[in-house]
Amino acid sequence: MTRTAQSVRQILVVVAPLLSAVAPVAGQPPDVSLIEIQVGDNMRFTPSVINASPGGQVRVVLKGVGKIPKTAMGHNFVLLKTGSDPKAFVDKSSPARETDFVVPAMKDQVIAATPLVGPDETIDVTFAAPKKAGEYAFVCTFPGHFKLGMKGQLIVK
Ligand code: CO
Repeated sequence: MTRTAQSVRQILVVVAPLLSAVAPVAGQPPDVSLIEIQVGDNMRFTPSVINASPGGQVRVVLKGVGKIPKTAMGHNFVLLKTGSDPKAFVDKSSPARETDFVVPAMKDQVIAATPLVGPDETIDVTFAAPKKAGEYAFVCTFPGHFKLGMKGQLIVK
């Protein structure tokens, strides 16, 4: 690493927490509905049912509340389009560690996805809910988690 890159990195380390502390106030338009979902060692989304209005902006904040390290117990939030088969999607995506367990060939089935989070990490994704009312599945594609019940539903109404 060059010295310049190092100092930029040091600055980011100092500034990044300040930015994230300010972001909800400064960067959050009032018409975005904020949904926090906790994920941890129990391999569940809490809550597992979330709501949105048709076409409404949604910001999902995925918060890691477990203790087991991310390499063994990482979680993501992957919201799938209607008509996609969550099990088939997970089966294909779970081996794709290098792309955070979302296989590029199936990205056309994804409405929104986050990278993996581990303990004490938070990551968020903002997206437009589908315009069509209905139930949309979301899953964690970390190997084994979907099979053990790590899934949920976005209800658009
Ligand atoms: Co998971």
